Amino acid sequence: MKFIIFNWKSYLNFKESTSLAKFLAKMKFDKRFKPIVAPSNISLGHLNKTFKNLLFSAQNFDLYGKGGFTSYTSINDIKDQNIKFAIIGHSEVRQYSGENDYIVSQKLKIALSSKITPIICVGEDLLTYKKNKTKSHIKKQLNIIFDKKLKYDEVLIAYEPLWAIGSGLVPTNDEVLKIADFIKLFLKDYTFKKLKILYGGSVNSDNLEMLSKIKNLDGFLVGSASIKKSFINNFKL
Ligand code: 13P
Repeated sequence: MKFIIFNWKSYLNFKESTSLAKFLAKMKFDKRFKPIVAPSNISLGHLNKTFKNLLFSAQNFDLYGKGGFTSYTSINDIKDQNIKFAIIGHSEVRQYSGENDYIVSQKLKIALSSKITPIICVGEDLLTYKKNKTKSHIKKQLNIIFDKKLKYDEVLIAYEPLWAIGSGLVPTNDEVLKIADFIKLFLKDYTFKKLKILYGGSVNSDNLEMLSKIKNLDGFLVGSASIKKSFINNFKL
C-alpha cells in the first residue's frame, strides 16, 4: 500500500479546502493507496472533525508547546484534534523560516513523544545534485535528524530534491530508487516500528505512472497537483 500525501501548502482557502476535502471524502479510493491530506492550519481542525473517513496531517508545528508563542502551532493543538500526522522539515519551511536539521531532529522527538507520525522531508539543492553529492548530503541530514539510541514508531521520510519542487523537473526512477535504498541502508541499525520512504517533487498526472514503477517506494508527497481533481482521480477505484 502506498501513501499519497496531498500537501495543499497555502494554495487553498478555507472554502476551497472544504470543498476539495468533500470531493475526497466521497471518492472511493483504490485500496492500494492510503491518502493523507495536509491542509492549511486554518482548515485542518475543521476538516479533521468534519471528514471522519479521511486522514489528516499538519504541515508543521513548533518546538515550544503550550504558552506565550504568538503565531506558532503547538503540538498540543494537533494532538488535541486527534491529528495523526505532521510534516517536519519541508524545504519551504527550511527556506522561509530557517528550519534546519537540528530543529527537525528536535521536532521528531516531540512527534515521537506525542504519538504523531512524522513525515520528514530531506533532499538536496541543484548544485549538490549537479556535483553528484546527493548521497553525502542526505547522509549528513540523516545523521543529524535521527538518533541511534531512540526507538522510533512509524516514520515516513519524503525524499524531496529541492530542485524538483514546483519546477516540473523530476529525477529519473533510478536516481530515486538509489536514494530510497541509500536511506534504508543508512538507517538499518536504527530502531523503527515502520520506516517508509516516499518521493516528492513535481509529481503529477503525466509522470505518476512512470514514478509508480519505482520498486520499494512507499508513496508520494504531492504539492501543486494535489489540489487538482484530475490528479486525485488517478487514485479512484
Ligand atoms: P510540488 O508537487 O508542487 O512540486 O511540491 C512538492 C512538495 O513540496 C510536496 O511537499
